[in-house]
Amino acid sequence: MSNKSKVIIETYGCQMNFSDSEIVASVLNGYKYESTTDISEAQLILLNTCSIRDNAEKRIWRRLKELNALKKRNHELIIGVIGCMAERLKDELLASGVVDLVAGPDAYRDLPSLLVEVENGQKAANIILSEEETYDNIEPVRLSSNGVSAFISIMRGCENFCTYCVVPYTRGKERSRDPQTIIDEAKKLFDLGYREITLLGQNVNSYRWKKDDDLTNFPILMQRVADIDPLLRVRFTTSHPKDISDELIDVIAENENICNFIHLAAQSGNNRILKLMNRKYTHEYFLERVAAIRAKIPNCAISTDIIAGFCTETEAEHKDTLSLMQSAAFNYAFMFKYSERGGTVAAKRFEDDIEEEIKSRRLQEIIALQRTLSEKSNENDIGKKHRVLVEGVSKRSDEMLFGRNSQNKVIVFPKANHKAGDYV
Ligand code: 5AD
Ligand code: SF4
Repeated sequence: MSNKSKVIIETYGCQMNFSDSEIVASVLNGYKYESTTDISEAQLILLNTCSIRDNAEKRIWRRLKELNALKKRNHELIIGVIGCMAERLKDELLASGVVDLVAGPDAYRDLPSLLVEVENGQKAANIILSEEETYDNIEPVRLSSNGVSAFISIMRGCENFCTYCVVPYTRGKERSRDPQTIIDEAKKLFDLGYREITLLGQNVNSYRWKKDDDLTNFPILMQRVADIDPLLRVRFTTSHPKDISDELIDVIAENENICNFIHLAAQSGNNRILKLMNRKYTHEYFLERVAAIRAKIPNCAISTDIIAGFCTETEAEHKDTLSLMQSAAFNYAFMFKYSERGGTVAAKRFEDDIEEEIKSRRLQEIIALQRTLSEKSNENDIGKKHRVLVEGVSKRSDEMLFGRNSQNKVIVFPKANHKAGDYV
């Protein structure tokens, strides 16, 4: 039994946050905390939070209420809020009375000293954003891992400034991580038995590392990771449509072990709305990129994000989104109602003028269309053979295993003699 104190890190939001929680666990391990899943033995609870939509933040406030009840019974319990919401709402969080500690996405190395302050009876906060921090020398603790697939964060921040989005404000300037540290981390994971790595960043295609005259861009980095071993699958997320280059498409097409799956967030299919969103591409350009992908990678699955009811969107403009979805024949989509975020350009300059009812109805139309597109994608797979990387035992039956094919589709099949980490 270890005599370390116990921490629970609850992660909300995107994969970047899951990856960050693994870095936080590592930093805390170097101090005096080890992770637990049993809340009754935790001395520290950290919520790694998301601000992307109002719903995400509401959920955290509800959770903080629950934790407050726990804290009333256990006065020693330390509650911390980290991540995007910490960056955005430090003062409200500290004023709430529930939260002892606030740390923004670039302040995780500072957690031990913040905790010392809290242990000395003060509240502590650090939300300073950095232009350099990539946590590249911190070896993440793999939390709730299946031992088969892992995330590697390759860059941080975002400078696209889509007008609806808080991320440039919560995660700061874009910066890339030294490629050698990425390759080393991937090799290590492979040697430990991991068989799938997802390279993570807000816009991975902006990845760029220059040392003397040696430039590593994202396609070059992908090639280097793919070269580690043919048995190591490589995925990436997420790339901006404006940057989905022929060079990247070629690298995916040429490497058997780079998965045929691209997440390409369209957001809208209307050119006026895309301009208001500052997306820097048009409906036509987006479909041209989809065609370029499908021409070189015929089996490539493409998923997307769509926002319904952005400021001033008309009925005809909404129909342009449906039309883009139909033409692109997305295999999968994440679909949202527009949610105004304080501090963004949209919040400052445009009126959030689409009534809730209309937003909901448009979202329902988008969801219904995607359902038919996803069904078509499934029908196309009937009777085909798929190569699956086994991730574990199916939730529904001990006799079945589950894994994903290259296109990221989950496949469930009889166990036989196979196990996690096998290709079947
Ligand atoms: N309202 C609704 N959806 C949003 N997204 C980002 N910001 C907002 C917002 N203010 C969506 C986008 C993005 C995904 C991660 O979340 O579709 O791609
Ligand atoms: Fe949420 Fe965006 Fe922050 Fe990820 S980067 S946690 S999606 S606000």
